[in-house]
Amino acid sequence: MKMWSGRFRQPLDPAFENWQRSFEFDCRLLECVLDASAAHARALMQAGVLCEDELRSILQGLEQIGERAAASAEFLDDQEAEDVHHFVEKQLVTLIGDTGYKLHSGRSRNEQIATDLRLYVRAGCDEIGDELGRLISVILERAEQAGTAAMPAYTHMQRAEPVLVAHWLLAYVEMFFRDADRLSDCRKRANVCPLGSGAVTGSTLPLDRELMTKELGFSAPTANSIDATSDRDFVIEFVNVLSQLALHLSRWAEEMLLFSTQEYGFVHLPETYSTGSSAMPQKMNGDLLELTRGKAGRVIGDATALLVATKGLPLAYNKDLQETQEPLFHAAETVLSLLPLVTGWMKSAEFDLERMQKAAETGYMNAFAAATYLVRKSVPFRIAHEQVGKAVRLALDKSCELQDLSLNDLRDIDSHFEADFFNFVKLENVLAMTARFCLAPSRKSARTFATSSFSKKREKSSDAARCTCTALTWPRFVPLPWTGIIRSVAAANCWCNP
Ligand code: ARG
Repeated sequence: MKMWSGRFRQPLDPAFENWQRSFEFDCRLLECVLDASAAHARALMQAGVLCEDELRSILQGLEQIGERAAASAEFLDDQEAEDVHHFVEKQLVTLIGDTGYKLHSGRSRNEQIATDLRLYVRAGCDEIGDELGRLISVILERAEQAGTAAMPAYTHMQRAEPVLVAHWLLAYVEMFFRDADRLSDCRKRANVCPLGSGAVTGSTLPLDRELMTKELGFSAPTANSIDATSDRDFVIEFVNVLSQLALHLSRWAEEMLLFSTQEYGFVHLPETYSTGSSAMPQKMNGDLLELTRGKAGRVIGDATALLVATKGLPLAYNKDLQETQEPLFHAAETVLSLLPLVTGWMKSAEFDLERMQKAAETGYMNAFAAATYLVRKSVPFRIAHEQVGKAVRLALDKSCELQDLSLNDLRDIDSHFEADFFNFVKLENVLAMTARFCLAPSRKSARTFATSSFSKKREKSSDAARCTCTALTWPRFVPLPWTGIIRSVAAANCWCNP
């Protein structure tokens, strides 16, 4: 039976009927619909609409639907269900008879879909947060393994200053921490309960909204039914967070691709995450990285699609909102499938620390430090910059590095150069000057993330709620082992020991 048809005299055009269906994609929300329906059923009993037997039979029916869906994908092969809500009603009536029709008392699909999507987004924040935690842990491990190895840091894609490989890797940790933080923030706003909002002005039955809120592990009921049924801000926000994350993954992928070229040779592509060429037998291509970069474009597209789909909508529910589902699912599924692969890649990739270190030793990357040397000798920085520039020019002419110039050559340029200059601009001393700049912020955010209200909230909600959508595990963080290495490099700080 359709969910509506009484007022219609003519059947729908079959092509239109099929075209407006959403079951093909909103079947993903089945678990959320079942959980929210169970909460609604309990409120119906409290409101005197269902008796205890009816409630029991409805709850059992809902559970069976979940079990059948989990047991076989064919169960979801329904060419008639208009959407996932219709599917559940049909199945429930098949299982328990007409009592199943009582479940829709005092509710509307408008509040249902708003609730389903909030549950979906909340679970998405949790799952993606977990994956992000695993990726961060692996990058931290790789930073630890890199020890005191150095590499060039680039600006304008030109060699700029030497830096610890760990310092470079921890830059990605910072990016991903921010994404995790945004996810946790987004989760807060998504985690409210629209049930009881009805079609637009609120339920026609006196349903206990606090009860339903608690059942589903939400933090509070939504405040305004008109807004609650039309609001998709949380979807837009979530997909924006994901597009920012995909953007970070894309930048990471691009840099790894660049560093894996023979020209750089800093990273060896892991065979397990690469492909070959059907034409050129010698080739190994970093497809994981290229696809990561490519897929980011589509996730960013999802965020744009959501903004455009909703920008002209008057209050409250409009069917256009059905179009917000596919970009949401696509973005969430793309990122969720990407992250474990990126983590696997990061675990398996081999960094050529020797080659990175070698690259850090040439190219006048100690020139900034050399200017600082003169500053320490009371030369104004702008003058010091000029003088070291002249020294670089001379070294270029002589095809050598700054530290290979003679003290006489240097003193011809500026009389402040003395014998201690050569120690000052040694690679390890230059590194020691700056190593501490990768330490403080990362340590702080690692601690914040590991003890965030995000994780605490999650524990609370998975205890409280029957809702299976939130039953996920929280990432365990490695105890920040890299801080020791960086500290030991920073300990040799050349301010104290020039
Ligand atoms: N499938 C619909 C959607 O995703 C559910 C809400 C339908 N509401 C309605 N009044 N037709 O938006």
